[in-house]
Amino acid sequence: MQQTCRPSWVVATSRLQMSIALLLCALAPATAHDASRLSHSRVLQPSSAPNTPAPLERLRGGGDGKCDVILVGCGVPKRGMGWYHAKQMLDGDVPSASLTCVVEPWFLGKGADSPPGKAFKAWADEMTAKHGTRFCQDLSEIEIKGPTLALISGRTADNPRLLKEVIAAGVTHIYLEKPGAPSVAELEEMMEYAKSKGVPVYMGYNKNVTPYVLKALEAQQKIPGSAIEFIHNNAYKVEELGECFERNAEGMLKNMAIHELALLATYFGVTVDNIATVTPDAEFSNCLTLVGPSGKEFTDFAKVGFTVTTKDGNSVTVKADRCGSTSGGNSIAIVSVNGVEKFRSETPDEKLKAHCDAMAKADPEMMPYFFLQHDDYITLKERATAHILSGKGGSPEGMATISIALETLKVAEYLTPMLTEALKK
Ligand SMILES: NC(=O)c1ccc[n+]([C@@H]2O[C@H](COP(=O)([O-])OP(=O)(O)OC[C@H]3O[C@@H](n4cnc5c(N)ncnc54)[C@H](O)[C@@H]3O)[C@@H](O)[C@H]2O)c1
Repeated sequence: MQQTCRPSWVVATSRLQMSIALLLCALAPATAHDASRLSHSRVLQPSSAPNTPAPLERLRGGGDGKCDVILVGCGVPKRGMGWYHAKQMLDGDVPSASLTCVVEPWFLGKGADSPPGKAFKAWADEMTAKHGTRFCQDLSEIEIKGPTLALISGRTADNPRLLKEVIAAGVTHIYLEKPGAPSVAELEEMMEYAKSKGVPVYMGYNKNVTPYVLKALEAQQKIPGSAIEFIHNNAYKVEELGECFERNAEGMLKNMAIHELALLATYFGVTVDNIATVTPDAEFSNCLTLVGPSGKEFTDFAKVGFTVTTKDGNSVTVKADRCGSTSGGNSIAIVSVNGVEKFRSETPDEKLKAHCDAMAKADPEMMPYFFLQHDDYITLKERATAHILSGKGGSPEGMATISIALETLKVAEYLTPMLTEALKK
């Protein structure tokens, strides 16, 4: 049985007005940069001798036609998203990027003596020896000159502070891991702050550039009157859900389904102001209250399905299932006309799955999604750094801006209580 929820309030911001605002916001800062200037990030020596002028050391990157990147929040080798970003740049997978410095506040600070801290230090020493990469605990140890991208991949709760710190350090552009901030209020403040300082912020929403989505979007455009559905399956076992709910306490929509909500905001103009109806799929969905490892109760979705229709007639369905896969997770996009499937694309396809299985077997410690999304992460970093080097206005092709991320988070915060109320048992 399905039920339709109508938003109780409407604000008269048209999609066109919003698109123009987003475009202007993205254009303004980028035009300030001179395409011919190359990267000049430098790192100061650690401030152990504060009265001695710290010698500046030239880093890799400048003069070689690459954009300097500093990575903030690396995480543990083989586990942290930031670490994988670093690995790809150091391996030379991102032609326009030059990773000059890694800022790791925790594993080079209070967490240094923990086993992951020791693993981090061993990797850092290896990378310094191999690539000359600098590792710092704090952003105050860096001096930045010229176009420099800060890739922030810390804990989401630390992002509001880290964004201000990288801007104070002088970076010219920011790549922020999704979802950007824990709440709409914090992300909005970050967006306004970055805008006031003329620093564009691009988001690491990888589904925005992934082939299975782009193929489905293309198919939908070619099939008049078609609807699109995005399916996202994770591979948790039912008995693991209590732990999963507690660890991802921001909830299914801000966590797992946020990637699909970013697609809705980027490609279908879905914003809270533009939603006409939300139709929960009660038959598909399963909202549960479970006890987490701490003994506290958490109410969240084991799976959730819903269709959003916008005031300008776009209609998109999302189905996210924590336990929808028994083989590492998959995502599907389906284009249909009146319920009849016309096109389907899926990741991983057979070839990618075989590759990921082989890689996981060879290196079981590595987070499996690194293999799955390897190409998308390269695409995002390459588009961001090539865009910066080009000096072009606007934002890198397909990448969500912080404005899109804000709309995405607003939609997540809007839908969560609405769907929970409609679907809880
Ligand atoms: N785009 C994607 O597909 C994708 C996938 C996974 C994660 N992410 C995002 O990447 C970002 C990083 O995620 P992650 O899972 O790699 O993070 P993580 O928790 O492994 O590490 C992030 C940082 O947190 C700090 N940290 C770790 N333990 C700490 C402690 N006990 N006290 C204080 N600080 C501590 C460290 O500085 C570390 O660099 C998040 O924004 C996440 O949403 C994106």
